[in-house]
Amino acid sequence: MTKNVQHADPILVKVPGASYPIFIQNGLLSKAGEYLQPVVAGRKMFILSDSTVWKFWGKELSRALAPHPCSVLLVAPGERQKQLGTVEKIALQLALHGAERSSVLLAFGGGVVGDMGGFAASVYLRGIDYVQIPTTLLAQVDSAIGGKTGVNLAAGKNLVGTFYQPKIVLSDPRLLRTLPERELRAGLFEAIKCAVIGDPDLFEYLAQNRREILKGKTAALEQVIRASAALKALVVSKDEKEGDLRRVLNFGHTVGHALEAATRYRRFLHGEAVAWGMLAATRMAAQTDGLAPQEADRMVELIRSYGPVPSMGKTPASEICRHMTVDKKVRDGVIHFVLPRRVGEVTIVKGIPQQRVASIIEELKRTDPFRQTQ
Ligand SMILES: NC(=O)c1ccc[n+]([C@@H]2O[C@H](COP(=O)([O-])OP(=O)(O)OC[C@H]3O[C@@H](n4cnc5c(N)ncnc54)[C@H](O)[C@@H]3O)[C@@H](O)[C@H]2O)c1
Ligand SMILES: [Zn+2]
Repeated sequence: MTKNVQHADPILVKVPGASYPIFIQNGLLSKAGEYLQPVVAGRKMFILSDSTVWKFWGKELSRALAPHPCSVLLVAPGERQKQLGTVEKIALQLALHGAERSSVLLAFGGGVVGDMGGFAASVYLRGIDYVQIPTTLLAQVDSAIGGKTGVNLAAGKNLVGTFYQPKIVLSDPRLLRTLPERELRAGLFEAIKCAVIGDPDLFEYLAQNRREILKGKTAALEQVIRASAALKALVVSKDEKEGDLRRVLNFGHTVGHALEAATRYRRFLHGEAVAWGMLAATRMAAQTDGLAPQEADRMVELIRSYGPVPSMGKTPASEICRHMTVDKKVRDGVIHFVLPRRVGEVTIVKGIPQQRVASIIEELKRTDPFRQTQ
């Protein structure tokens, strides 16, 4: 192991009682051992991954971590695994393999493995350290940052969980080479979200470099990941537990979550539902005179250009609205919308009549901007 390793400048997350770096660099996976050394030296390490990620990248990670002793725990891929039963199995495996208070869990996968790994780490022996190596774009720009962990219940998504921060996050854009294109696009909508809520330069970059980004060029993806992760890190650092500031991250999510629920999580990937949600919020903002028409057009055009996204199909707007009122982000029965004011600035608005929301959704269904994509 070399000393004096030249590490790329990390992005820092600082929350009360915890501070950790996010390193983002092409090729980072092969140097994971060096980067993790300060956290894992002399400690037992347990890798949690899903079988798809492990098939593609397991060998390279194992090589990078050698000779550090590691045990590998694999789960089947997919959102259905994100449940308490799987966490129990993970905890049991940890116990059987001799995990102690000083052991470290490495979550190596997308948001499912990250959320579940973080949750398992937060409750096993009342909390062991964990680190994240996110392998989807969504996880690299969003879910691996900020310490929200959890699992789903039959009654809804992410209903059981904790706030529990990792010790370090390593993001390697090269890992996205094996990611299905649809997953890549879905993650890019979260990057567009970051651009609209707080980064006009990222917005321009996404608009100007769409071809490279969609082709999966690692240099372009690295820029997008860095800017998006920096924005999320900043927001989380100012507001760890979803007070008013962290709620800006929900731009596109009020309608997005409702749409996912109304279609039983089968029709859309999360980012795709958020794309529809951002279009709805943009229209809402344009109608309530908070957003100039040219700005609205720029946003709609950028979102549209990163499609295709499945249509809303036959799902009635009333059904989508009904799910909005049961979302856990509703406070005291009042639905909050994050609405753009211009590229890089959003505001939180409450009390928009459901009828207005429903008619915007109906209009979006009729005009479907994604129909014109490609
Ligand atoms: N904690 C948070 O703040 C937060 C934020 C947003 C989303 N989430 C959660 O994240 C989850 C979604 O995460 P996701 O979109 O990463 O899904 P995911 O983890 O299910 O990964 C998507 C698919 O891609 C595969 N995959 C992962 N990396 C790959 C790679 N490099 N190459 C090939 N295939 C790969 C996986 O096996 C899986 O089949 C949801 O459960 C959501 O609730 C959490
Ligand atoms: Zn999201």
